[in-house]
Amino acid sequence: MVHIPQNIQELNSYKPGKPIEEIVADLQLKEWAILWNNENNLGPSPKVIKAIEKEARNLKVYPDPASVALRKSIAKAHNCLIENVVVDNGSESLLDNIFRSFMNDGDELLTCEGTFVALYIWAKANNKKLRKLPLGRGYRFDFKKIVESITPETKAIYIANPNNPTGTIISKDELDEMLQLVSKDILVIIDEAYFSYAQQLSNDYPDSFSLGHPNVIILRTFSKAYGLAGMRVGFALGPKDLIEAMTKVKMTFAPSNIAQVAALAAFEDKEHMTRALELNKKALTEFYLALHEAELDYIPSYANFVMVDLKTEEKAKQFAYDMLQKGVFIRHLKAFGLPHCVRISTGTEEENQLFTQTIIELFTQT
Ligand SMILES: Cc1ncc(COP(=O)(O)O)c(C=O)c1O
Repeated sequence: MVHIPQNIQELNSYKPGKPIEEIVADLQLKEWAILWNNENNLGPSPKVIKAIEKEARNLKVYPDPASVALRKSIAKAHNCLIENVVVDNGSESLLDNIFRSFMNDGDELLTCEGTFVALYIWAKANNKKLRKLPLGRGYRFDFKKIVESITPETKAIYIANPNNPTGTIISKDELDEMLQLVSKDILVIIDEAYFSYAQQLSNDYPDSFSLGHPNVIILRTFSKAYGLAGMRVGFALGPKDLIEAMTKVKMTFAPSNIAQVAALAAFEDKEHMTRALELNKKALTEFYLALHEAELDYIPSYANFVMVDLKTEEKAKQFAYDMLQKGVFIRHLKAFGLPHCVRISTGTEEENQLFTQTIIELFTQT
């Protein structure tokens, strides 16, 4: 019998829920809002669709393994060299690459509870040690606690800034202080999947790449503000030697040629990005108002979602269930280690309205 390693046996396989179409049919919904995956429901720029259509005629050839055009454009925007950029199939792939490029067995990755679940999965899939500290006050990454908790086994630190699912950020000063305190032989991974949103929403959000630390890798994705979650493209920024190590372990022909042209068109369409950011900002204000009126506790967010603290698991579960009955698909955060909370992503104008109406309806009835 083929032996399956213990760490793989212990991983839970991804169990997708019922398809949306089935839920819509079962509940006989007339309208619905898909607010459970932090996607940008505005979708990609029309220029992206055009680029994809054009590239579709070129599918017989392998993609450029070095993603030169895309990396050049990213490098130019960040005032760095192409050698400081690696592109892959989304941040998840980049995280997997990081585990394989930098961590030996026995090395530990230090992070917090209540962050991006895929990190825990890729750590386990790669058989690496993961130490999770509790989140600090206000559901924020407690950078001082992280620094104090470093041991000789600590090889890497992961922070998500903004954090998913809490929407909180580490400020410029906090990041500066943390990076001063962490030894340069410890890798610091800063996952900035919601970078564009945070940059618009906070004057205190760090420009982490410009700090130029030799031990920092920054992860960005096209899955969120660029509206390309289905395309699977992300990139990492960092020092040449670290980026080269990650490039060595990436799949040769990733991302696909369609993904490369789509990401390039998305990256260069600033107007579409502005539209997405404005829509999100407006939605957050509307969400806060509705939640305030419903007397629910929420965490102010620097991303495209809001976490609501319902105090007990039962109430959070019920909240997600009640919302679903009204056609509002949101996320109960049990799998994130926050069973008393739910997360609501922002959507289109119509979806946001359905959410705020539903909140008022449900909470003024009782
Ligand atoms: C913090 C964080 N990082 C990364 C990702 C996933 O990015 P990608 O779609 O590029 O794999 C997510 C998606 O939810 C996220 O919340």
